[in-house]
Amino acid sequence: MPGQETAILLVHGFPLGRQLWKFQDTSFDGSRTLIPELPGFGSRKSAKVPPSIESYSRDIIAQLDASGVGRAVVCGLSMGGYVALDIFRRFPDRVLALGLISTRAEPDTADGRQARDDMIATVNQRGLAPLADSMVPRLLAEHSPDDVVTATKAMILDASVPGVVTALQAMRDRVDSRPLLPQINVPTFVVAGADDRLIPVSSSQRIADGIRGATLAIIPGAGHLVPLERSVEFNRELRRFLAGLK
Ligand code: MLT
Repeated sequence: MPGQETAILLVHGFPLGRQLWKFQDTSFDGSRTLIPELPGFGSRKSAKVPPSIESYSRDIIAQLDASGVGRAVVCGLSMGGYVALDIFRRFPDRVLALGLISTRAEPDTADGRQARDDMIATVNQRGLAPLADSMVPRLLAEHSPDDVVTATKAMILDASVPGVVTALQAMRDRVDSRPLLPQINVPTFVVAGADDRLIPVSSSQRIADGIRGATLAIIPGAGHLVPLERSVEFNRELRRFLAGLK
């Protein structure tokens, strides 16, 4: 294994960037916290990879290697959760524990795949502004404070069109992770926002039911972006989970 150090790894969702984790950009239990940006987003908006969740996993593993990190507590939100599951699938020896936040194991439905294609066409024709307009209300709970709305919109507008298209293709074509769940043999915590309008709490419940020993925390008042919307409660859950690993 390339490095011996351990870390907490936080992988952002779509179509966001590392600012999603701005309230987690701290040392939690003395461990290093790594918050990478996926290719095509934020500071890496000109980076390109083939359109697959596997490409994101390999990109992240390369970043762990470059940082001298062997094993990590691999946490991902939504699309980041698809990546976290894929990292476990391909590189289980790099995963100390898993955090699956506002995510799901199911693949896209036929309607969901069509919606990805429609979004790809819109973004290619009209850029990121319509994406921000349609996504922000779905990412956040109703009546979110202005600063959270502004930060979320800014992250979306800080992506690149090719990066967004790649992510939509990768999510559209992702595999069904439900068969993986019974194979997960590391401590796992699952978090859902009670008011998530994008991925229902039932998806998190199914993940928690499918992984032996997993815990589920449902955070009141949070939408899809729990770590940003309810950072105090989220950080408390993360700390509690990390303390249980000792
Ligand atoms: C995300 O929040 O990462 C995505 O919206 C998830 C998805 O569209 O499947």
